[in-house]
Amino acid sequence: MIVLGIETTCDETSCAIVKDGCEILSNVISSQIDLHAEYGGVVPELSCRRHIDVLIPVLQQALDEAKMPLSMVDLIAVAHGPGLIGALLIGITAAKTLALTLNKPFIGVNHVEAHLYAALMSQSAAITFPCLGVVLSGGHTAIVMMNEIGNYTLIGQTVDDAIGEAFDKVAKLLGLPYPGGPQIETLAQKGDKTRFTFKAGRVKGHPLDFSFSGLKTAVLYTLKGQNSESSFPLNIIEQDKADVSAAFQATAFNDVIDKILYASEKYGCSNVVFGGGVTNNKELRRLLRAKVPQLQTFWPSFGLSLDNAAMIAGLGYHCYNKKKQGDSLDLEAATRIPFQRPIV
Ligand code: KG4
Ligand code: ZN
Repeated sequence: MIVLGIETTCDETSCAIVKDGCEILSNVISSQIDLHAEYGGVVPELSCRRHIDVLIPVLQQALDEAKMPLSMVDLIAVAHGPGLIGALLIGITAAKTLALTLNKPFIGVNHVEAHLYAALMSQSAAITFPCLGVVLSGGHTAIVMMNEIGNYTLIGQTVDDAIGEAFDKVAKLLGLPYPGGPQIETLAQKGDKTRFTFKAGRVKGHPLDFSFSGLKTAVLYTLKGQNSESSFPLNIIEQDKADVSAAFQATAFNDVIDKILYASEKYGCSNVVFGGGVTNNKELRRLLRAKVPQLQTFWPSFGLSLDNAAMIAGLGYHCYNKKKQGDSLDLEAATRIPFQRPIV
């Protein structure tokens, strides 16, 4: 089955052609980093305009690279949420229009679930369910029990900032360009992570929930001085920035790893699937190997960590086969799609 995937949830416009859920024939990604960099974060209105400008050329390129006419597509899958409402509407409208005009089925998939599916795309044969799924992205931070593809139970999530959002905000405090995650990773390589002591937040009664906003504020106070009126930029030198980056990154990742270990012991699960932009970070992968070598970890392969349409097409294939039909064209954009907590 040939699936066309469309991704426009935030600041990447992407179209992909994927065969039978895992064979990626093309995966074209048009990033908007240049557009948002000067504002230090995503500007929704600009994001929507750019999606409109580039979606059709990106689609054409995806078809060209897959050497395939539109008529060969069997299913159109689109990320229908979570994401920015205007951005979602552009992808969904394009997908519905194509489905209607080509007379092909249409299916909406959950962008966050697709991040987890990205790690399964190249290695589904090796993974046995249930396993833990860990989403570390710019908009989401969650640990779920993956019972099977499409059936997840939420066991932990952030109560405030997502981890990628915390990286981006700390980078902004340090005067680094957007997106901050890769900048912090690079700077941290030159830093001393022991020079500053930071702590990630704990959520009372929910040991598997995350809280990163206090950590971000601790970085702010370290740079600015508590209750200080001093304004930015400060007299901080490159080495200070590197040390803060290293300490912040280590604190955030140690917190994630401690929670993964706790969850794996509590639920008797040693297979862990990772997804989301922050999983691009090499230090995270190194720390996990070093601290919890007993866990078997599954990571998205190169190009599949950040937002992309191949993961949308891949998951769309499974959703369609499970439902044995597509979605109604009435399916709407969903800015939030929460995972369900278990009923206790
Ligand atoms: O999954 P993603 O592409 O978009 C969302 O669905 O949110 O993730 C983007 C996030 C951004 O916050 C970015 O700073 C972060 O992933 N990120 C990283 C790295 N590369 C991207 N964070 C830490 N280290 C990296 N190497
Ligand atoms: Zn994403």
